[in-house]
Amino acid sequence: MDSKNRLKKLQEMREKASLGGGLEKIEKMHSQGKLTARERLAVLLDEGSFEEFDMFKEHRCNDFDMVNKKIPGDGVVTGYGKINGRLVCVFAQDFTVFGGSLSEAYAEKICKIMEMAAKIGAPIIGLNDSGGARIQEGIASLAGYADIFLRNVLYSGVVPQLSGVFGPCAGGAVYSPALTDFTIMVKDTSYMFLTGTKVVKAVTKENVSNDELGGAMVHNKKSGVAHFVADNDEQALLLLRKLLSYLPQNNMETPAVEANDDPVDRGDPELNSIIPDDPNRPYDMKEIILKVVDNREFLEVHQYWAPNLIVGFARLNGRAAGVVANQPNFLAGGLDINASVKGARFIRFCDAFNIPLITFEDVPGFWPGTAQEHAGIIRNGAKLLYAYAEATVPKITIITRKAYGGAYCVMSSKHIRGDINYAWPTAEIAVMGPSGAVEIIFSSQISEADNPEKKAQELEEKYKEKFANPYVAAKRGYVDDVIEPQQTRFRIIKALEMLKNKRDTLPMKKHGNIPL
Ligand code: HXC
Repeated sequence: MDSKNRLKKLQEMREKASLGGGLEKIEKMHSQGKLTARERLAVLLDEGSFEEFDMFKEHRCNDFDMVNKKIPGDGVVTGYGKINGRLVCVFAQDFTVFGGSLSEAYAEKICKIMEMAAKIGAPIIGLNDSGGARIQEGIASLAGYADIFLRNVLYSGVVPQLSGVFGPCAGGAVYSPALTDFTIMVKDTSYMFLTGTKVVKAVTKENVSNDELGGAMVHNKKSGVAHFVADNDEQALLLLRKLLSYLPQNNMETPAVEANDDPVDRGDPELNSIIPDDPNRPYDMKEIILKVVDNREFLEVHQYWAPNLIVGFARLNGRAAGVVANQPNFLAGGLDINASVKGARFIRFCDAFNIPLITFEDVPGFWPGTAQEHAGIIRNGAKLLYAYAEATVPKITIITRKAYGGAYCVMSSKHIRGDINYAWPTAEIAVMGPSGAVEIIFSSQISEADNPEKKAQELEEKYKEKFANPYVAAKRGYVDDVIEPQQTRFRIIKALEMLKNKRDTLPMKKHGNIPL
């Protein structure tokens, strides 16, 4: 064959491989409002930056007539490319080839690109769209999954791992995203479940749709498995690009500092009066976050799950930070099990990737009652405490109002290595709120008084004066300063600048034992 024909053959082979399972199946995806694996990569990556690996790799299965059904690439597109000029390693599962199901060869392709990501210190982004283990390959596909899971675990905390879930992902196809740092799902077209609806019906007699079992909102709102939801494939891919902008390439780097045009000393006078006079009235903590960070830009993570705790990414003078904040608008900002788990995981991610933590605190305590106690609020609340105490990144805390009880200790207090702890003049830092405290310590004085209600009120006022303010803590140095709320942005930026070279360590150990 002469060189011209060799090039022609290469071209033909590339064209064949690019079509995956064929035009009919591609059209079916388009008709469902979905993009194909290659189209998704085109949106995700900077134009012209994609370099593909193993385009011609095929499966090696001889059972069930599979020997006659070989498709170059075998259902997953892998390689590297750039996002806003930064290197990333990617794989995109192709549902048009055997439903994106995973074979031994397919797993090898994913493992190869994951290993490359770890070697060069680049994030891994997986675009998942797969019916799970390829049934015809039996144990070889299970082994392939285990090989991927191992790498997800080994590279956890080494390079950021992001997952997009685009189609009906089942079985092994959901465990890899679950091991990664963030998962984005697409409304109406993506599902995640370990066992599909048919098996569910056979085993539990439950009749459920894909959406009810594992739709995007189920996992964004109920299970907490997914961190983000997008309206369509394109939006999900753009969200992945945005998320990446807050993260460093790997655990040896810090996030890139971006140019900032929002004045460092921009004070927002509304902050001075944002806390209601009535301590039991809620307010929107998100508004405080937006007023403080650069250009009101906040990428909220887990927006729909456990909204009593807000977590997400923002920038302060161009420097990326992880924000954790109690939300008085939901459950009065109390910490329940889901909020504790949500916070702990986010904090550990930020700590692993050198992203400073800013905590806005207004918390009446852990959520009381049998439902929470029986489900293990002690064990789960301890996760949040553990994560904050273990974190060695810069930690800055702003107490806007309540910092009561165990929640005071947990929410990045000075005692668990908070670096800078500021309180607003409206802060109330005490073992518990005035009414609860007075009932316990003055119960006989109240019951014996001529007017018990008036007596209780008097005692509450006394308690508030003595304990429910920021100055008791400030006198002990438990808060570093009581600050004017409108100066919060300026004070945080100065603190971040001061802490940028912070070094802190943990005692030598194999690993700690977080109460899982
Ligand atoms: C081989 C598969 C497959 C699989 C789908 N296909 N899943 N082939 N192995 N696991 C094929 C179908 O045969 C079909 O081929 C094509 O992909 C599209 O599938 P459809 O069923 O037509 O599509 P749809 O109606 O959209 O349903 C998608 C689906 C469904 C929800 C994913 O296919 C399904 O329930 N699949 C099985 C899911 C599952 O139980 N997986 C768990 C595997 S065990 P043709 O040729 O007709 O186009 C597992 C264990 C790992 O993963 C454990 C690790 C912890």
